[in-house]
Amino acid sequence: MVNLMPFERENIAQIEGYLPGEQPSSSDVIKLNTNENPYPASPLVAETLSKIEVDELRRYPSALADEFCGLASRVHNVNPENIIPTNGGDELLRLILTTFAGENDTLAITSPSYSLYPVLANIQGCSLTEIPLDKDLNYPNELAELLVDSSAKICFLVNPHAPTGGLLPVKFIDKLASNFKGVLVVDEAYADFVDPALRYDCIPLINKHKNLLLLRTLSKGYSLAGLRFGYGLGDSELISPIKYKTRDSYNTDYISQQLACAALSSREYAMSTWEKIRQSRKFLSTKLEQLGLKSWPSQTNFLLVQIPDNPGAEYIYKKLKLDNILVRHFDVNNLNNKIRITIGSEDENKRLISSLVNILRI
Ligand SMILES: Cc1ncc(COP(=O)(O)O)c(C=O)c1O
Repeated sequence: MVNLMPFERENIAQIEGYLPGEQPSSSDVIKLNTNENPYPASPLVAETLSKIEVDELRRYPSALADEFCGLASRVHNVNPENIIPTNGGDELLRLILTTFAGENDTLAITSPSYSLYPVLANIQGCSLTEIPLDKDLNYPNELAELLVDSSAKICFLVNPHAPTGGLLPVKFIDKLASNFKGVLVVDEAYADFVDPALRYDCIPLINKHKNLLLLRTLSKGYSLAGLRFGYGLGDSELISPIKYKTRDSYNTDYISQQLACAALSSREYAMSTWEKIRQSRKFLSTKLEQLGLKSWPSQTNFLLVQIPDNPGAEYIYKKLKLDNILVRHFDVNNLNNKIRITIGSEDENKRLISSLVNILRI
């Protein structure tokens, strides 16, 4: 195709953009494709939204979302200087690359992982080192050594992992942060759904490691994907260039700051949804197993499900779609024989199972 717009940078012209999951306009669709929370945000969020006056939008918001930083610092037992609020977790990922990686630098990731990572690396023009999971999607035994030896400037590790849902323990992150010479980013978009019995908490590590940056988001755990609010946690020196140099002047808006504060101050409500989702995760994986479908042990709000070649993952994806149920099928190596199913509400999960029973004619 002739490029009629030769204004893009060379590397932008050559890349494919990020392909987001489908967002159907009909509310009849059971949406189990983009890992949203099936329960509404807390009543305090709704109340706060209903009280926002349009006149409050006349002024710029707090540039650094000070109230949110204060609140989040108390929730996580860190200092406000350790927190950088962003326009969704995705903005934080982009800012990390803008701030820490030049064109001659390398980003290390595992493959597969969040499909936005390679896109962001390409936009920034830096190189990518991808460490493949094995054919069963387990991390290689020497994962830490491979990451350290990559000499990457930045490593993005998603924990718990997407799309498998597997969890690396805190001890692993602690040791890796000690040995890795660059910035170690642990993308904890799904950390809220980890079983509390596992005592997974990497936040205290930010006081120990000056190169460790954690990503959190309100999109999943707090049912606010449409709000676009996330934040990073790290040593104040590490995040200060993002706060004071690379961030957009007002990167989070007034309404999202207000609602993010409401969400965090009614955290117990969100926690009750995490527990329900954990229960449903168990229910769904057991039911899938009864249908002969293996899923990976997950600490997230989704399950990656292996689909036998007959009938094939794409077939199941399409059949579910015809039945108004959206799941995610990634047509890429190692994932094209699997589907990823977001844990829905109890009713949605039951509908999914009965649809699968029909499709598989069990
Ligand atoms: C692994 C991972 N990290 C980060 C994000 C970013 O989330 P958001 O930009 O909605 O905060 C997502 C969203 O799907 C994700 O799956």
